[in-house]
Amino acid sequence: MSDQTAISSMPLYTHLDRVARALAALGIGPGESIRPEQLFAIDQWHYHGTDAIRAAAEALGLGPASRVLDVGSGIGGPARYLAHTTGCHVTALELQPELHRIGVDLTLRSGLEGRVTHLCGDALICPLPLAEFDAVVSWLAILHIADRPRLFARLARALRPGGKCYVEDLSERTPFAPRDLADLRDIVHGITVTPAADYAADLRAAGFVEIATTDLTGDWAPYAAERLRIWRQNRAAYSGVHGEGAYLAHEKFYAVIAQLYDSGSLGGIRLVAHMPKARP
Ligand SMILES: C[S@@+](CC[C@H](N)C(=O)[O-])C[C@H]1O[C@@H](n2cnc3c(N)ncnc32)[C@H](O)[C@@H]1O
Repeated sequence: MSDQTAISSMPLYTHLDRVARALAALGIGPGESIRPEQLFAIDQWHYHGTDAIRAAAEALGLGPASRVLDVGSGIGGPARYLAHTTGCHVTALELQPELHRIGVDLTLRSGLEGRVTHLCGDALICPLPLAEFDAVVSWLAILHIADRPRLFARLARALRPGGKCYVEDLSERTPFAPRDLADLRDIVHGITVTPAADYAADLRAAGFVEIATTDLTGDWAPYAAERLRIWRQNRAAYSGVHGEGAYLAHEKFYAVIAQLYDSGSLGGIRLVAHMPKARP
């Protein structure tokens, strides 16, 4: 199985018609225009939805002049939120063509195509402009990417001097038991899930400085447990709109994530760092 095939069969990335079905449930048909706010419950595939993205925008001081690269942008939720709320320009880079296509469609329909540019490609090899961006952001994507040192070296080159990096991702707190490791690989497609210190070391090796690491496990573990509980509670309603297969795919993913936190091995982290400023 190629890497691309493996990732697209991960439960989170199957049943993609759920986006169109969720919009239909709001009375929005194919091709019809959408207010960005109507997407927020649908297009944020990380912890704490738009609250997490708002916190990043504030920490990075984003405004209309800012140019941002979003690595592993999914269907474009964080990119659209940043563009819509701060006026910044976001390049949304996504590996999977089908997610990219949905992202392009949603961006057009919500009138944000002037501020969000979608790019389909692998962050490890696709051409990236040099010293172009004020900030690189990424939510729950780098865990999927095999060569983190290479990725960070590329992102460092894409940032202007003084540019910032803001990442939220999974981490390893203690070594995973063999069965948990299999679930992490097969169900979560967690290829690069390491201790926070290794993550920070990769940023440092790429030239980033003033690296601040925040352990989010105490917040994300109960969030994941509650997400699973609510998911199961709402089974009938969700299956009614999206079908039982779509319900079960997400249930599997949410249950594995909750178990991995429960085991004490999985953690969550935020890393904020920047490139040195140019010499005067
Ligand atoms: C959990 S999703 C999060 C999406 C988005 N960041 C969000 O928070 O809504 C992670 C995304 O990273 C993408 N991804 C994985 N490997 C990638 C790569 N090498 N280059 C670009 N995107 C990648 C996946 O296809 C997936 O859409």
